[in-house]
Amino acid sequence: MLLMEKDLQSKHLGYRPKNLSCSQCASLIDISSFKPLDHFFCPQCNQETVVPAKLGIYEICGFLGRGAMGRVYLANDPLLHREVAIKILRENLSTSPKMWALLEQEGKIAAGITHANVIQIYTMGKILGRPYIVMELANYASLYDLMAQGLISEALATQIAIDVIKGLRAAYQLHLIHGDIKPANILITSKQHAKITDFGLARYLDYDQEVERWGTPYYIAPEKSEQLREDFRSDLYSLGATLFHAMAGYAPYEGKTGEEVISKSLKSSIPKLHKANASISKEMSELIFKLMRKNPDDRFWSFDQALACFEDLQENCYKLGSCKRLKSGDNVHSDQQKSWIHGLRNLIVDDDVPDEKI
Ligand SMILES: Nc1ncnc2c1ncn2[C@@H]1O[C@H](COP(=O)(O)OP(=O)(O)O)[C@@H](O)[C@H]1O
Ligand SMILES: [Mg+2]
Repeated sequence: MLLMEKDLQSKHLGYRPKNLSCSQCASLIDISSFKPLDHFFCPQCNQETVVPAKLGIYEICGFLGRGAMGRVYLANDPLLHREVAIKILRENLSTSPKMWALLEQEGKIAAGITHANVIQIYTMGKILGRPYIVMELANYASLYDLMAQGLISEALATQIAIDVIKGLRAAYQLHLIHGDIKPANILITSKQHAKITDFGLARYLDYDQEVERWGTPYYIAPEKSEQLREDFRSDLYSLGATLFHAMAGYAPYEGKTGEEVISKSLKSSIPKLHKANASISKEMSELIFKLMRKNPDDRFWSFDQALACFEDLQENCYKLGSCKRLKSGDNVHSDQQKSWIHGLRNLIVDDDVPDEKI
């Protein structure tokens, strides 16, 4: 049975490279004993990567990230000559019809939104009993990845706030609320713009504590924790808590368990950002405070109002010279991040690729 599965994988998933060059340290790794799409760690530098595979016309050549529901890969579209991101349902969830339905729902919901600040869906498919979504690649990093490198500057946080609010506003025009705004679901492009991903999942999914270190409880609006009615202001709360975390270096409410975090977010007073990080302006601190107000009525009353405030902050901050215009590469704290996406492009060393399509 196992052998048959392996044969099937080789046939459909295509690639059979013998060696790969590590995207981080460039050392040559023998992968002849692995199957396509297997994950492994470089023996030299411990960088996680994936054995190349073919998914329909798409050639998977790198690993981008994982969430509670899927693994996301860098792939090449040889017909349109562009790179794409492909999210595949986790293997252990692939027998669950509920999870299939959720991934399909995510694809359909996100495909309905056409906006520069929302990741565009290109197509969907299934392979070996696992559904996948092909989408626009955000070619830099997630906000989660950037936060792991260090504090996010006020200038970048302001740009993220503007972009995310615009993306949420576009979704809201279709009567959608995101429901799971958090660092891992905000993707940053090389031009330092933010795009929202992962629509329509959070309200159904149990988060995976082990994988998502900064899992959802840090960013859940009080009304959602209390199972009261959520609306667009719940997304604004999550954005505020996310940006607080990004600029302060810690979440607004912390605790040993999800329950403790939620209990604090309901009962403790709202922390002030400029006290956590003295380099942040009082104006930014006040906007974040307003986003995180416990009563939704005390938050912004529309996306337009919130957007105008962050745009004013950006304008004033440039005028006063207290923040510089963003250039690509700002906020990057290590060379590893800079070479992140470029390294992946050169991953394949020896690929005798059968020209097989499914
Ligand atoms: N379009 C994309 N471009 C680049 N990286 C992505 C893209 N989509 C997802 N990722 C990476 O994969 C991670 C998990 O993706 P996500 O869609 O949030 O999965 P899940 O639904 O399982 O939470 C993200 O946090 C990000 O690091
Ligand atoms: Mg996610």
